[in-house]
Amino acid sequence: MKFQTVIRSYNDDAIAEGAAQIRAGLPVAVPTETVYGLAADAENGDAVARIFEVKQRPDFNPLIVHVRNLEQAVRFATFNEAAIRLAERYWPGPLTLVLPLRPGGQISSLVTAGLDSIALRIPAHRAMQALLAATGCPLAAPSANASGTISPTTAQHVFRTLAGRIPMIIDDGPTPIGIESTVVRCDGQGIYVLRPGPIIIDGAERPSTCNIESPGQMQKHYAPTKPLRLDATVAHADEWLIGFGAVDGDRNLSPSGDLVEVMANLFDALHQADESGRARIAVAPISGDGIAESIRDRLARAAC
Ligand code: TXA
Ligand code: MG
Repeated sequence: MKFQTVIRSYNDDAIAEGAAQIRAGLPVAVPTETVYGLAADAENGDAVARIFEVKQRPDFNPLIVHVRNLEQAVRFATFNEAAIRLAERYWPGPLTLVLPLRPGGQISSLVTAGLDSIALRIPAHRAMQALLAATGCPLAAPSANASGTISPTTAQHVFRTLAGRIPMIIDDGPTPIGIESTVVRCDGQGIYVLRPGPIIIDGAERPSTCNIESPGQMQKHYAPTKPLRLDATVAHADEWLIGFGAVDGDRNLSPSGDLVEVMANLFDALHQADESGRARIAVAPISGDGIAESIRDRLARAAC
């Protein structure tokens, strides 16, 4: 399907229009606190199929279902005590819980890629919350970019890879956090980080099988179109250098070394570097643990 993609600033009319598109079975781009998402009714198989078509996403890769509140969440998954504790502590917010799917529900099997688990998140962003309220549906939403490209943190980033493929983008400015949610599996066998992200959970483990369990953790992901060199302290010829701290470059992710600021700027800097006149991209070293590891995870995928 071809569309004249419109960008609408966030307000009640834009939400009503977005909700109407979603009810008609079409995916709509909407900001969350992490990145822009491409949202469709998770209980409508055709609508979910369109997400895969629009993104050209391999269909074995399951999607996150966004819900309004815990009451709605427990309809779709079983929560053990640990899951309830995580939900109470971090929701609404940038945490996705992979939980046992409650059988007999209406969630499209395309969303879960046929697995017996489901990824759930209550987002904190006003636009996504308003869309959830206006549609009344659980919303499946991967990042609103063509599969394998850099995740979008502005409406313009969404437009760059999805223009003509979706009816509308709800624009509410740059997303405040800037990298995708932390994904953890929580099912009675402990708490396992499947995708590192903005939330660091003490005592959580990373299973060695995470590549299989979270197919979105494919090696090549979030990638610019140009070659990217990591841990650069100076720019080589024809490189656009993304700096950090004392390494200044063409743009500094955070001169003061603030990792929260780095998360917020990272994907926009990659987009900017990709669109620059230089043939290559280099990125300064980002050291440290916690969210620095989540940032290095995204950079390593962008570089391969
Ligand atoms: O911040 C975010 O999480 C954004 C915003 C839009 O909410 N969404 C996002 O979705 O990044 P997506 O589809 O790009 O990433 C979903 C991740 C993938 O790594 C996928 O493999 C994993 O969640 N996932 C989804 N369902 C799963 C399941 N049942 N078991 C294991 N991993 C799952
Ligand atoms: Mg993505």
